[in-house]
Amino acid sequence: MNQNKKTIIAIDGYSSSGKSTLAQKISKELKFNYIDTGAMYRSVALLAIQKNVFNSDLWNSTNFIPILKEINFQFKWNKILNKTDFFLNKKNVLHEIRSKRVTNKVSLIARIPKIRDILTTIIKKFIRNVSNKGIVIDGRDIGNIVYPQSELKIFMTGSIEIRSYRRFQEIQKRGGLNSYSYEEIKKNILYRDRMDTSRKISPLKKSLDSIEIDNTFLSPEKQLTLVLKVIENIKNNRKKIKKII
Ligand code: DC
Repeated sequence: MNQNKKTIIAIDGYSSSGKSTLAQKISKELKFNYIDTGAMYRSVALLAIQKNVFNSDLWNSTNFIPILKEINFQFKWNKILNKTDFFLNKKNVLHEIRSKRVTNKVSLIARIPKIRDILTTIIKKFIRNVSNKGIVIDGRDIGNIVYPQSELKIFMTGSIEIRSYRRFQEIQKRGGLNSYSYEEIKKNILYRDRMDTSRKISPLKKSLDSIEIDNTFLSPEKQLTLVLKVIENIKNNRKKIKKII
């Protein structure tokens, strides 16, 4: 990797395939910024719910789009909890955006072209203004659409059973009234996979130049070791090419 240039790592993949776990581990290890673009789509779904956009005849994106012109997202490192907090219009919504009502609606938001345009512009601005050595971004269309020039592109997959089970465990750990059953989670993940891969605009698709990680049987630690090795290889190859030139 270029030593002076900022490094962009794109992580795309299926719902609950461990993208954000891996992205956060990489960002901690390399001291890179971390952007969770799913949180941005979820925030728009949350705002839409709060504004009753999904109710009856108000389900009309033209009524809603002007609200997005003022939207503000912030990702801030939380030293105490050792993870990245997420703020929507200055309010920490990290947990609220993972609620059942948001999860059930977010795919409808993600298929609206104007919303994708607005969020893509915001994500690109984050990339341009990154203050650290680099940035790790996770989502569905980062390697293909948002930032095809990313130096490293990772595509994450995992069996539907393991993805549902891990998500089920995560929700159980968090507790609360909002809990799903395992079957409900599996159904929702399958629904979101179908929506993500079949939508007309920016569908989830593995790019030819990405590295696929199937983490059905791979722990987060092993995934991190693997990615760090790939990054080391890219760096060494760059040095070799520089010498030859
Ligand atoms: O990664 P996640 O499950 O938090 O993402 C929530 C939803 O947002 C997901 O169903 C697909 C959508 N999404 C998208 O369409 N494009 C992105 N870059 C990120 C998320």
